[in-house]
Amino acid sequence: MDKLLVHGGKTLKGAVHISGSKNASLPILAATLLTGETCIIRRVPDVSDTNYMIQILAALGAEVERSSGTVRITAANISHNAPYEIVRKMRASICVMGPLLSRLHKASVSLPGGCIIGDRPVDLHLKGLEALGADIDMEGGNMHMKAEGGLIGCECDLRGKHGPTVLGTDNMMMAAVLAKGTTVIESAACEPEVVDLANFLNKMGAKISGAGTRRIMIEGVEKLNAVEHTVIPDRIEAGTFMVVAAMAGDPEDGVTLNRICREHLEPSTEKLIEAGHSVEFSESGTSCVVTPGRNPVGANIVTAPFPGFPTDMQAQFTSLFAITPGISVVEDTIFPQRFMHCAEMTRMGADIKVDNGTAVIQGTSTMSGAPVMASDLRASAALVLSALCANGTTEINRLYHIDRGYENIDDKLIMIGADIERVRE
Ligand code: EPZ
Repeated sequence: MDKLLVHGGKTLKGAVHISGSKNASLPILAATLLTGETCIIRRVPDVSDTNYMIQILAALGAEVERSSGTVRITAANISHNAPYEIVRKMRASICVMGPLLSRLHKASVSLPGGCIIGDRPVDLHLKGLEALGADIDMEGGNMHMKAEGGLIGCECDLRGKHGPTVLGTDNMMMAAVLAKGTTVIESAACEPEVVDLANFLNKMGAKISGAGTRRIMIEGVEKLNAVEHTVIPDRIEAGTFMVVAAMAGDPEDGVTLNRICREHLEPSTEKLIEAGHSVEFSESGTSCVVTPGRNPVGANIVTAPFPGFPTDMQAQFTSLFAITPGISVVEDTIFPQRFMHCAEMTRMGADIKVDNGTAVIQGTSTMSGAPVMASDLRASAALVLSALCANGTTEINRLYHIDRGYENIDDKLIMIGADIERVRE
């Protein structure tokens, strides 16, 4: 159980290299189950979530080699049974369902349990797979599914109460690539990670069109082949460091982010500029300099599916607004309960009222260090951001949450001047 000691108040400057995307890597790693040939994936971040997915692939019988960011997978002889011990550690394990069902015509995967960020049912995943012809039985906390003779193309609308589903779209896309005939997914998720998965599958020989729009068409093929692919940059890690720069960056030089993709960062960029900070992109759009504004102002956020404002960035902006003069309002329409970080920030002196999926933040200039508890991945990042600007030392416990999705975040912050220690308990 590691904890982080953050000695606040340092001005940060220099360059950060952004890692490959965790949320693109997870479904892409699962997609390698669709072929018995060797797949090579580059820039897979070394975080616990990708390690869990690799453990699941190995437990299913795939040969897996990893050397720094490159993962080599050969899923020649695989089982259809995903072990509960590993699946329970990570919700995203659910995206092995589509590939297993598509290739083996059967799959057994345990139903994900509760999640601290809110209600996360899988009804839309099952709706898509049943529409493709799968029979699904629930027994003993497991989902047993089979499709005698294989899956059959169909039309299915994946819209839910809170809009489209990212991993649900991924699962249905991966199931449909080897199905007989054509599948049409309506109300599909448009996230860049969905597009990256579709590009990966098309390189394997799939026939997918419309990824990145609300209507995706998949023409089933007989077989998929070996592939090499480099995952997209992590837009949430990049967004997090853009907010770090706005909160604690050098007012002259700012902080430089390298290895990014400008178009994936538009919602965060627009909001930072609206809040009075500066974001300058390089011509290629693969790097930017973020400089804190001299007269920052509060702003309002309503999260939405891409290209709307990402729910995975609302906690980090809450940290920014907690030290920005004026009132800001943050509403999360995708995970209305995703405000665990606010109570911990209040322990540091923030003035935040949370009610019914909305946080009302009164900016203050006097945050002070305190022992705080991380509760989930993005909440823990938000606590680190608040700690960077607080007087004194903040002790962040349950660091395993941040290690799930940020590769060496403390080393990267130290590189730009932060005073941080990781303490092993
Ligand atoms: C992905 O989760 C991301 N995870 C999440 O990032 C992200 O918060 C989320 O998309 C939304 O952008 C990965 O990519 C691994 P959803 P996913 O299905 O696909 C409801 C992070 O911090 N819903 O798009 O599981 C659901 O409850 C993580 O990196 C149903 O009702 O999210 C939510 O309200 C956290 N039924 C909404 O849809 C379903 O069957 C969107 O969830 C599925 C989802």
